[in-house]
Amino acid sequence: MRRPGVLITGASGEIGHGLIEKLAEDGATTIVTLDVRALEPSLGRMVHREVTGSITDNAALDRILAEFDIDHVYHLAAYLSTRSEFTPVTAHKVNVEGTMNLLEFAQKQSESHGRPVVFLYPSSIAAYGLPDLETKAKAGKVREEEYNTPSTMYGCNKLYCELLGRYYARHYKQLAAEALSGKVDFRAVRFPGLISAVTVPSGGTSDYAPEMIHAAARGEAYACFVRPDTRIPFMAMPDGVEALLTLADAPRAKLTKTAYNLGAFNPSAEEVRQLVLRSFRGASLTYDVDVKRQGIVDTWPADVDDSAARAEWGFAAKYDFDRAFSEYLIPTIRGRYAR
Ligand code: SER
Repeated sequence: MRRPGVLITGASGEIGHGLIEKLAEDGATTIVTLDVRALEPSLGRMVHREVTGSITDNAALDRILAEFDIDHVYHLAAYLSTRSEFTPVTAHKVNVEGTMNLLEFAQKQSESHGRPVVFLYPSSIAAYGLPDLETKAKAGKVREEEYNTPSTMYGCNKLYCELLGRYYARHYKQLAAEALSGKVDFRAVRFPGLISAVTVPSGGTSDYAPEMIHAAARGEAYACFVRPDTRIPFMAMPDGVEALLTLADAPRAKLTKTAYNLGAFNPSAEEVRQLVLRSFRGASLTYDVDVKRQGIVDTWPADVDDSAARAEWGFAAKYDFDRAFSEYLIPTIRGRYAR
């Protein structure tokens, strides 16, 4: 008998960290993880099976298939946007072929246990590509179907994988209707920049906000790599994790979209800097613009319309800009670096 459980790929990353802690809270969920990096020991103790390997390695996925009866896949593993621009071919391999492997895995799982596998996919505001700053200023809250012309390899990968997920969900649903069991119940969110108090991102382009906060807390000088007026949406990590879990539990019949926008707050880089300076007096935060990374965030929307997520599955961010700092980031970060 295979043991029922959930699979988290990219589990040692920022979202995985928060997701494992939340899923492990009641002790009732069997958590299986797949990541090229080992989990921190404190997280490793919360999971039932930690597989160290790549999502491009089908043998690793087959071993999990043979041992576990997976009903939820949280497919978090990816090369982020800045890193992907340095190694676009590898990024495509990991981000697209890796996702394809996981969709096949989910399909095989659902065929073997006869129930749909709920497949949670974190897409991104990088799936958008606004042509210039004037359009970005005028666009306001961008809707899911607008400006689907990403400028980065990562953005192209995310947008295409949303479509791949939609293909799997529809194609195999059709086959299921023709009496073949199994299907992939694909659900995606387009995350804004995520800010965690316990981990620092690596390889993303929204990293300037979390990097400013963590550097100030550590008493290190930091030069922000985008202009002061740069504006994109952000979200505190607990809201991001909660969104994934809420979407996972939403009744299928209520969902009309493949991927949902999520919003929480959208400060300019200078507004982030000012709040960090108020929270950590004497912090040294300057600007040193990286033209390539600036070019990436300039194509991302300044704000997103998340009314579909609110209406269809009850998404509501708990933390606005001020609360994210006063009730989550500052107290948690202070505690962390004090230790
Ligand atoms: N935060 C990610 C990045 O910057 C976007 O999804 O790459």
